[in-house]
Amino acid sequence: MFMNFWYPAETSAALGGDPIKIRIIGQDLVIFRDADGTAHCLANTCCHRGASLAGGRVLGDCLQCPYHGWQFDGDGMCRRIPSLGPNAKIPNRARVDAYPTQERYGLVFVFLGDLPEEERPPIMEIEEYEQPGWRSTLQWFEWPFNYKRSVENGIDPAHNEFVHPTHGFSGANEDYKVGPLDMRETEWGTGFFNKVLAPPLAEKRMQQESARTEAAYIDAGTGHHGVASIWTHIHPTPVMFIHQYLYEAPVDEHNTRLFLINARNFLTEPEHDERFKQRNAYVAEQDRDVLTELLPTLSPPNNITETFVASDHPIGRYREHLKDWEKRGWRIDRQAIAATRHETAYAIPSPARRVHKGWALTPVPIMTGTASS
Ligand code: FES
Ligand SMILES: [Fe+2]
Repeated sequence: MFMNFWYPAETSAALGGDPIKIRIIGQDLVIFRDADGTAHCLANTCCHRGASLAGGRVLGDCLQCPYHGWQFDGDGMCRRIPSLGPNAKIPNRARVDAYPTQERYGLVFVFLGDLPEEERPPIMEIEEYEQPGWRSTLQWFEWPFNYKRSVENGIDPAHNEFVHPTHGFSGANEDYKVGPLDMRETEWGTGFFNKVLAPPLAEKRMQQESARTEAAYIDAGTGHHGVASIWTHIHPTPVMFIHQYLYEAPVDEHNTRLFLINARNFLTEPEHDERFKQRNAYVAEQDRDVLTELLPTLSPPNNITETFVASDHPIGRYREHLKDWEKRGWRIDRQAIAATRHETAYAIPSPARRVHKGWALTPVPIMTGTASS
């Protein structure tokens, strides 16, 4: 798992007055809103005796630890230690890691890492979000599979034909073939567009002027952004667009939360939202059923133990990006953590660690950048 990326922590709607404990990339975090409603994210382990901060409560701008009542503000600084009495000097080490937090697209995003602002890989953008003529829905899932397996599935042009009968013909056409991929490379990911022969649109409600009633080649594109976000653009007709944005949060190596925003430029009345969400869940569950059975459970670091073919090229590119991010020192050494987790409480280093010294929690161990063995 990788630090130094933005991850979705929760929907904005779900983050109310009480702190919420969440686990992302194997580390426990707490998110809460201060008195102004601003969302904050802290490492969940109290720097005093290691209590779970999420078990405490919000007092004004601070989160109060449930064990001895220390109060931490949104920057992770301890503002009050009740046992020392009023106006006591707060020790320098009395701070916990605080992670940059942004609310966008109805989600609370947290930046888990220590990169300064200008060096952070950006949150995957949704240009259509709340633009005139577009309507979006938000839904989420939590499933027991590895996030890399899920990203690799998302950018796999050869699975749709077989996993999603609504997107293909289950191999029934003799001349089926993954056509040429029009690759799109960005600084933070690899994507492609191609033409896909798809069955007619099923829904009667879609049989408006612009809807397809026959099988047709449709334009579809998909790609990853960073380690765990995927965009998919489907154009069922030249004027009907479905643009999907999947923000994944690895809970740990074996469990993933997936937040899906689906933007559409047709049937934009709110009354159609539920049907789109049901349809998206139906398709996502088809992927889930395959992904939960893959072996090995984790995505292999290279293609030596698999059989790679031309249509797997995007997956190969994704793995190259991962190696690059590992070389930058962003990959957490999960085995080192697992071997010591009873003796050591770890935290993902926050940006403040580059400025302040003296932290109670040990920074997560990092892979040395030898990539892939
Ligand atoms: S463990 Fe948090 S205040 Fe003591
Ligand atoms: Fe799929």
